[in-house]
Amino acid sequence: MEDNKKVVFSGIQPSGSPTIGNYIGAIRNYVALQEEYECFYSVVDMHAITVRQNPAELRQATRNLIALLIACGLDPDKSTLYVQSHVPAHAELCWILNCFTYMGELSRMIQFKEKSKGNENSVVVGLLDYPVLQVADILLYQTDLVPIGADQKQHLEITRDVAIRFNNAFSPTFKVPEILIPEVGARIMSINDPTKKMSKSSDDPNSYILILDKPEDIKRKIKRAVTDSDNEIYFDEENKPGVSNLITIYSVMTGKTIDESVKDLSALGGYGAFKENVADAVIAALEPVQKRYNDLISDKGYIDSVMYNNAMKASYVANKTLSKVKRKVGFADLPRPKA
Ligand code: TYM
Repeated sequence: MEDNKKVVFSGIQPSGSPTIGNYIGAIRNYVALQEEYECFYSVVDMHAITVRQNPAELRQATRNLIALLIACGLDPDKSTLYVQSHVPAHAELCWILNCFTYMGELSRMIQFKEKSKGNENSVVVGLLDYPVLQVADILLYQTDLVPIGADQKQHLEITRDVAIRFNNAFSPTFKVPEILIPEVGARIMSINDPTKKMSKSSDDPNSYILILDKPEDIKRKIKRAVTDSDNEIYFDEENKPGVSNLITIYSVMTGKTIDESVKDLSALGGYGAFKENVADAVIAALEPVQKRYNDLISDKGYIDSVMYNNAMKASYVANKTLSKVKRKVGFADLPRPKA
């Protein structure tokens, strides 16, 4: 690893196929950062099993996500793109950090509260512990910067708290990372309910647009997108969440500012033409990604080699931090037997 470059880490779950929310809130920033930073991007399959998964589907989704991230512009020779479970240091550091994280901190997490509501006695321990694994992910790589969407903010705050707590208990061991949330598109909302976040784990396919959705599906979903009855196109997230969400999507997909986007789109008159233009922008931006993905996914040998080489690179860096941590907490070295 080059010493002078700052480190970026982020993770994405292979639970379902990624949405344009993942793309806008996170993936496009992963790509933008790779020129300037030493980047580690992990497909976090260990996080995914906190919710019951179909094993064959999870295995396939993990490989597909590696291919999709490359198709979105990640260069596996520049960024270390790897699968979390291939680097056992994540689980080991998670255990150690479990002993430095408070129950109160974990039970206050919004995502845990939402997911455990109504089944407090049968919620799996992994769901409560989920943020600690995320803390371990980030701290293993001595990360400076974590690009994420707004929904992950609380998990990053706990990362900073645990890093500081551990450093204070021993001596400086972990970098305390900064959070990078995009100014536009940090929280893309559901297409058919703009009061909710767009999520790949939703049961309703009309609520999200996948990066790999076919053009006709993107058209249909955006045509049916929930807006309001004013028939006026301007940006106001509080009072016009549906319209503002579509303007944000258009803005990111065309590379225009929100103001420029409003100017373009309000000139069109009504919601019909507005939605058509948003759909065309999404389709045009995703077309090259989909084409690259289709080429990559059939190249099994290439994806295998990316997964192997990058897991080795990630392990090397992760194990350096893990060894330091083990010494700090007092684990005995493994003695080498005399020959
Ligand atoms: P995940 O897999 O849910 O989402 C991956 C990234 O996409 C962002 N995102 C969104 N951004 C804007 N609008 C949306 N509707 C939207 N939906 C998702 C997320 O904020 C995230 O950045 N816990 C994490 C995975 C993780 C991780 C990490 C992230 C594990 N370890 C370490 C950062 C650092 C998650 O479930 O992301």
